[in-house]
Amino acid sequence: MSVFAIAGNKGGAGKTTLSINLASRFNRDSPTALVDADPQGSSLQWRAISTNDDTIPVFRAENDLHQQIDNLQRTFGHVFIDCPPSVHAPQTDVALKSCHIVLIPVQPSPMDLWATVHIERAIEGSLEVNPSLKPMMVINQAEARTTMSKLVREALQQIDLLVADTAITRRAVYRHSILHGKNVFEMGSLGRIASEEMEQLIKEIKLL
Ligand SMILES: Nc1ncnc2c1ncn2[C@@H]1O[C@H](COP(=O)(O)OP(=O)(O)OP(=O)(O)O)[C@@H](O)[C@H]1O
Ligand SMILES: [Mg+2]
Repeated sequence: MSVFAIAGNKGGAGKTTLSINLASRFNRDSPTALVDADPQGSSLQWRAISTNDDTIPVFRAENDLHQQIDNLQRTFGHVFIDCPPSVHAPQTDVALKSCHIVLIPVQPSPMDLWATVHIERAIEGSLEVNPSLKPMMVINQAEARTTMSKLVREALQQIDLLVADTAITRRAVYRHSILHGKNVFEMGSLGRIASEEMEQLIKEIKLL
């Protein structure tokens, strides 16, 4: 029974993509809910176009997000929170203070990695009230078949946050699946490699 926040301070890093795919995979094994805490409402839109009855339930964040997370955890067991792209947003603050694990997707560019200093500070603040919070950065949109540049590796070393060994590669199936209200596990052979990397990431998450 865990609460996972997917957060960060950069738009377009992959929070919604990770939230949808990870939460959907967890939901296959045990009841899981997804909370869309981003006013942009991307996860809610994705749920609205899904035609599969088994698709994970997605809830709009309520004013009392802390209480909502608590209630959902009692009903579903696992709860994922898709956060807005700012650590200063009140939803991110509540999510960081209420979750067990926070995943921070970042693109493998030095600018994106340097921007993680904001989330690092927000996590430090949250640890004071949520001392068991476990953060992990996840490299997303890595170029397939290229090794990460020397610059990115150097930037990573300056960041005081655990980085998942599994990097999520840039693949069209991540976009296409969302467009069809699906997750990568529902995309057959097109989603095979993406599904495998998600499974690999989940293994790491479970070891945290
Ligand atoms: N691994 C990937 N491969 C290919 N496309 C990706 C990948 N991850 C995310 N994308 C695409 O990049 C865009 C941004 O991703 P996403 O919406 O998940 O980011 P976000 O952090 O939730 O953005 P926002 O901050 O606006 O909420 C989307 O078009 C998404 O389909
Ligand atoms: Mg999003």
